[in-house]
Amino acid sequence: ALRDSCIPKAEQQNENSSNNPQPEASYKVAILGAAGGIGQPLSLLIKMSPLVSALHLYDIANVKGVAADISHCNTPSQVLDFTGASELADSLKDVDVVVIPAGVPRKPGMTRDDLFNINASIVRTLIEAVADNCPDAFVHIISNPVNSTVPIAAEVLKQKGVYNPKKLFGVTTLDVVRANTFVAEKKNLKLIDVNVPVVGGHAGITILPLLSKTKPWVSFTDEEVQELTVRIQNAGTEVVEAKAGAGSATLSMAYAAARFVESSLRALDGDGDVYECCYVQSELTELPFFASRVKLGRKGVEEVISSDLHGLTAYELTALEALKPELEASIEKGIMFAHKQT
Ligand code: NAI
Repeated sequence: ALRDSCIPKAEQQNENSSNNPQPEASYKVAILGAAGGIGQPLSLLIKMSPLVSALHLYDIANVKGVAADISHCNTPSQVLDFTGASELADSLKDVDVVVIPAGVPRKPGMTRDDLFNINASIVRTLIEAVADNCPDAFVHIISNPVNSTVPIAAEVLKQKGVYNPKKLFGVTTLDVVRANTFVAEKKNLKLIDVNVPVVGGHAGITILPLLSKTKPWVSFTDEEVQELTVRIQNAGTEVVEAKAGAGSATLSMAYAAARFVESSLRALDGDGDVYECCYVQSELTELPFFASRVKLGRKGVEEVISSDLHGLTAYELTALEALKPELEASIEKGIMFAHKQT
């Protein structure tokens, strides 16, 4: 279940349609920031899901054309567009999953934290609307810095009296997708089989791939561990530099976010075998938020998988301790921001 993505799954179901009928499309998904670099391909990928009955595309501009374009694909979901603050509430009515890729991306030389000032306010405003209009939805936050924007969202939801920690997720799927790809390349493994849990947070050294927990089991030299860990941590920057000012990862991010949406929909649909890494409220460490593998169910996080943190290598243990101060500071920064606003 971990390696499933929405596209191969949809194709597989078509091929086997005689003995494995299409699941009924019945879920509503809203994308806030749908006209952006991530929003557009993400909307397209979610339009391909057989589980989606309605796709609500919201942005502050340029979303009409995106919706008109995507609506011509002959898949079940109805596509509706919503532009600007006056249509935000309507875009969220009765939705099951809200995905938030709204905000500015990095340019070369920037850290994710450099985005804080702009994106923190955007996330706060959008989450206030989520709290007012669909407090029971799964909320997927993509806007960076995820390490801080998720704590901001939690505080806003608490202020509104509707916080459900089991349904608020920072999307870190791209770190897993990258880790799987790089490890498969390096070790010459069949890509579809590889799964590397990635824990911690979603910025620099807070991204900690647990290579010793790679499935199927594979051995790494110390040099390979060092090289792969650093590459996975800096993979976002690799894309930012290659795009040379034109933005950050959008296509691979859309792929990863679509996988996380599809997993959430399968969990909502009663599939009892859905596991994903994501950044959630957690008691796994002393930090209030931490990314790890979780089991997803109808009510959101059913279980935080603690076993991944057992039996770590010395390298992983050192890296885990090293990431905690930075992650803690990012969490505090988010919480302080949310409190300053009230
Ligand atoms: P983009 O600039 O191409 O698109 C952002 C979209 O958000 C634009 O269409 C813009 O109009 C919209 N927007 C701005 N303010 C808004 C508001 N108040 N309400 C609704 N929409 C609003 O940026 P891109 O490349 O799509 O990146 C979006 C965010 O995703 C960035 O913060 C980026 O850092 C983050 N990101 C996160 C990743 C992750 O792994 N979690 C990976 C890659 C990017």
